Amino acid sequence: MATWEQYWDLAGLLGRAVKRRLPGRLRSLREKNRTSQTSVAVLAEGCHLYLQDYLAMLGCSPDFLRGKKILELGTGEHVGTPLLMALCGARVFTIDAYDTVKFDREIMEMYRLLAPAAESSSVDPGLQEVIEHLYAGRHPAEFSADSPIQMQVVGAEDFQGEEFDLVVSRAVLEHVADLEAVVAMISRALAPGGLTVHKVDFSSHDLV
Ligand SMILES: C[S@@+](CC[C@H](N)C(=O)[O-])C[C@H]1O[C@@H](n2cnc3c(N)ncnc32)[C@H](O)[C@@H]1O
Repeated sequence: MATWEQYWDLAGLLGRAVKRRLPGRLRSLREKNRTSQTSVAVLAEGCHLYLQDYLAMLGCSPDFLRGKKILELGTGEHVGTPLLMALCGARVFTIDAYDTVKFDREIMEMYRLLAPAAESSSVDPGLQEVIEHLYAGRHPAEFSADSPIQMQVVGAEDFQGEEFDLVVSRAVLEHVADLEAVVAMISRALAPGGLTVHKVDFSSHDLV
């Protein structure tokens, strides 16, 4: 049978082993956390850049978006850019042929970074509700029909909605199967005098 001294020695041995490994383990946890913080900031910065890009193509300031009804083709993994548009006073309908929306930790934190003032009294109650839903990980396809952000899983070719002031997309038109049908849908969906801007990504497909 082991004596108390032997147990004491064993405890000391384990303690020393843990102490030797702990700094490395803590360092890697800190690194992981830093990487996650960085990717959240990068995601949020991307949404601001996409919005600036749309505004630059339109030659407009963010004020232009107030009261506008916008259709975004190709939602992708999150509704970060629609959220920024909604914070400018727009109503955004976003569609994607596939349900690609994600709710991982980085994306959830990104929503908090993009819309930190959900509690602020200056935020429209409908938008405040949307922000709370996004904080809680609710899928935008479940938002009510009068929400300032709505999503539908439908191919742009088959979308039936209309009367949008603005139709936008980024890195989507190079993916659609039937570009002619999408262009026809855009011209039908636009209200008289409506505008449409698209960013086509050739570079990540080795086309430039
Ligand atoms: C490269 S991702 C870009 C996503 C997002 N716009 C962004 O900039 O991060 C292309 C997106 O277009 C969607 N997509 C492809 N074909 C589509 C179609 N016919 N109608 C609607 N969305 C489509 C894909 O499912 C994907 O989410």
